[in-house]
Amino acid sequence: MANEVVLLMGPPGAGKGTQAARLSRSRNLKQLSTGDILRSNVAEGTDLGRKARGFMDAGELVPDDLIIGMVRSELSDLQDVRVLFDGYPRNPAQASQLDELLNDLGAGLTAAIALEVDEDEVVRRLLQRSDEQGRSDDNEQTIRHRLNVYAEQTQPLLEYYETAGKLKRVDGGLSVDAVEEQISRVLS
Ligand code: AP5
Repeated sequence: MANEVVLLMGPPGAGKGTQAARLSRSRNLKQLSTGDILRSNVAEGTDLGRKARGFMDAGELVPDDLIIGMVRSELSDLQDVRVLFDGYPRNPAQASQLDELLNDLGAGLTAAIALEVDEDEVVRRLLQRSDEQGRSDDNEQTIRHRLNVYAEQTQPLLEYYETAGKLKRVDGGLSVDAVEEQISRVLS
């Protein structure tokens, strides 16, 4: 199968994880959600989890050296490079590490999908999830901080991928099905 590498980007609560699960199934891509991998490590009490926990609870980014090591090890045994990244890269250093990694694997980026949702809606979604799931970073103060971290450190990457001709903007404020349909359309 041909290589395919897709990034799902957007603020906390934009629907990256929800769409990543659907898209990885429909396009036969390996889903690599750095937040999910970190949360599993925290739950299992691994060395990585112990190092990452404080940053996650505070809504800060986990240090880049921990993230790139984790991503490299997830990609080490791939036959075809068919990957969907959810929540990675998150700053310019991670974006250039990803470029190098893909270069080493002989693959290129297919598309960076930016899910656009307004701030009130993402806060509403995350507070609702807090009631349902109790994620440790889903309280209003930490949600607002995560949004600031996104605006300062991650949002500038949209321009990087736009300049590279890879950015596709999708209205993430629609229903889950409608967002999925739009993503499929921009990828086809
Ligand atoms: P991460 O797990 O990536 O969290 P996040 O970016 O804050 O995103 P969320 O999971 O909150 O939202 P989402 O966009 O995935 O939306 P979801 O589909 O879940 O990161 C957590 C932490 O880990 C970071 O703060 C950082 O500390 C660390 N980290 C992770 N990656 C890192 C990296 N690369 N570098 C450094 N640190 C890193 O949906 C949210 C809710 O909305 C759900 O309840 C869902 O059901 C609902 N929903 C989804 N879509 C819709 C829709 N269309 N309409 C209505 N509701 C919807």
